[in-house]
Amino acid sequence: MSAPLIVLVGPMGVGKSTVGQLLAERLGTGYRDTDEDIVTAQGRAIAEIFVDEGEAAFRALEKEAVRTALVEHEGVLALGGGAILDPDTRALLAGQRVVYLSMDVEEAVKRTGLNAARPLLAVNPRKQWRELMDARRHLYEEVATAVVATDGRTPEEVTQAALDAV
Ligand code: S3P
Repeated sequence: MSAPLIVLVGPMGVGKSTVGQLLAERLGTGYRDTDEDIVTAQGRAIAEIFVDEGEAAFRALEKEAVRTALVEHEGVLALGGGAILDPDTRALLAGQRVVYLSMDVEEAVKRTGLNAARPLLAVNPRKQWRELMDARRHLYEEVATAVVATDGRTPEEVTQAALDAV
């Protein structure tokens, strides 16, 4: 069985895909993203899956996508921001090198507040962000083997900090 070199977790908009691709380049390995796996398999955008079938249906697809990617992928793997809500997923992350990319609320609003493609932050980004992080921060921290703050840092700086941290 193979396993990813690094798994990236953290909230939407924190830069998991950008940093994940930079990390993969630096490590000379492949990059994979469970959101992309779901979109490819379903032939629909994530926002459409949320609207058509609801969040629970999306979470079931996500759980399966993470499980598959964790056994198939040997490079850098980024998980959707809510993947850690699932207890089985959190259990599967035990023993992996998991980097939690964090950011504060102002950075989050700057990066995600106007992005209608992110269904969980569409109405009142600042309030929704706080609620989201109150529910999730401890879960990101639970699965993480390293935490890297992204506030005020370029993707290249975050990538270096992640490499230094693992
Ligand atoms: C979600 C994060 C998104 C995507 C979906 C739900 C979440 O992924 O999976 O919109 O619950 O935080 P990114 O973190 O890659 O944006």
